Amino acid sequence: MTHSADRKTTAEITTFDTSKIASVIITLNEVLADTYRLVLKSQIYHWNVTGPLFVTLHDLTEQQYTDMFTAVDVLAERIRALGKPVMISAEILAAGPNGQDADASLTADGMINDLLSDHEALALRMRALVAAAEVADDPVTADLATARAGFHEKAAWMLRATSA
Ligand SMILES: [Fe+2]
Repeated sequence: MTHSADRKTTAEITTFDTSKIASVIITLNEVLADTYRLVLKSQIYHWNVTGPLFVTLHDLTEQQYTDMFTAVDVLAERIRALGKPVMISAEILAAGPNGQDADASLTADGMINDLLSDHEALALRMRALVAAAEVADDPVTADLATARAGFHEKAAWMLRATSA
C-alpha cells in the first residue's frame, strides 16, 4: 500500500451511507450560508442601532457575531472533513431564502425582533441537522449541530429578554 493510498477522507474511513451523508452535507452548506448571513445582519445592527438600547444591543450583537464567525469556519471545515467542497459564494449569500434582509432603519426593538426570528429559525435548522446526522451515523456533525442549536437558543433567549 502506498502512502497516498492512506490519505482517506472522513467519509472513507467511516461507514457512511452515501445518500444519507449527502443530505447532511447539503444541510451543513445551508446552515453555513444562514450563519454567515446572520453574522452580517448582526454587524449591520451593531453599527446602526440607536436609542436607549444602544449599548445593550451593540454589545450583544458583537458577542453573537463573533461566536457565529468562528462557527462559520467550524461548519465549513466539517464539510471538508467529510470530503466535499464548501458551497458558499457571494451569490449564495445574497440569495438567502431564510429571514429578511437587514434593515438599518429599524428601531432597536425592530432589530431585536428580526434577529430573534433568525436565531429561532437557525436553531430549528440545527436541530434538523442533528436528526439528519444521527440517521447518517455521523455523531461528530450531530455534536456540532447540537452545540450550534444551543447557541441560537441562548441567543434567542437573550434577545427576547432584552425587549421584554
Ligand atoms: Fe464594533
